[in-house]
Amino acid sequence: MKVRPLPRLATERLILKLLEPSDASLMARFRRENKDHLTRWEPTRPLEFYTDGFWQMQLRVAIREFRSGSSVCLVMMDSVEQEVLGVCNYTNIVRGTFQSCHLGYALAGRHQGQGLMHEALMASNQFIFDQLELHRIMANYMPRNQRSGDLLHRLGFVIEGEARSFLKINGKWEDHVLTSMLNPAHIQSSS
Ligand SMILES: CC(C)(COP(=O)(O)OP(=O)(O)OC[C@H]1O[C@@H](n2cnc3c(N)ncnc32)[C@H](O)[C@@H]1OP(=O)(O)O)[C@@H](O)C(=O)NCCC(=O)NCCS
Repeated sequence: MKVRPLPRLATERLILKLLEPSDASLMARFRRENKDHLTRWEPTRPLEFYTDGFWQMQLRVAIREFRSGSSVCLVMMDSVEQEVLGVCNYTNIVRGTFQSCHLGYALAGRHQGQGLMHEALMASNQFIFDQLELHRIMANYMPRNQRSGDLLHRLGFVIEGEARSFLKINGKWEDHVLTSMLNPAHIQSSS
């Protein structure tokens, strides 16, 4: 199996990378500061989710999963790498005949409306397609999450259907709109 270096993607305003466990306090701070903003869009979180200890463990798991090829959990940092602005998580990577993954993301409330998630996902999707050579990225959103739907549309994700009672968000099973984006290289060559 190929051993890949940990990714570090630079965009105009951001650095995207896997954080080291020693940076756990930066993630915990992002999660604490954005608790109210993110609660209605995410699964119910245990209290530990907002602690440094939880993120020391979770960041170690993320590096292990990247190395084993099952996820790519990128953290969006400001250009001087002092603040976590958001996360772009590619999970459930399945190879074989599927070659696909799920995408989930979250941006700090005070950084919305600046095109930062679009900038991040343009770079990270390209990494997933060009470097990992996956065929499909799937991303799903609740119909009332207009910002998320608009973002996916701008990125080129296409609506493929709806799933009833799809994910348990903030304690309630929620219907979702299902979208995906195909690897442009695979569409052009059809192989
Ligand atoms: C979904 C989410 C990431 C979208 O954030 P966002 O900032 O709206 O997304 P974008 O990066 O696409 O930015 C678009 C906005 O920036 C503006 N913008 C400014 N400069 C821009 C630029 N250079 N390029 C693109 N957009 C720019 C756009 O006009 C748009 O603003 P508007 O919403 O006022 O029309 C964010 O709302 C979020 O984290 N929500 C909570 C978690 C969540 O919903 N996760 C997804 C679950 S499916």
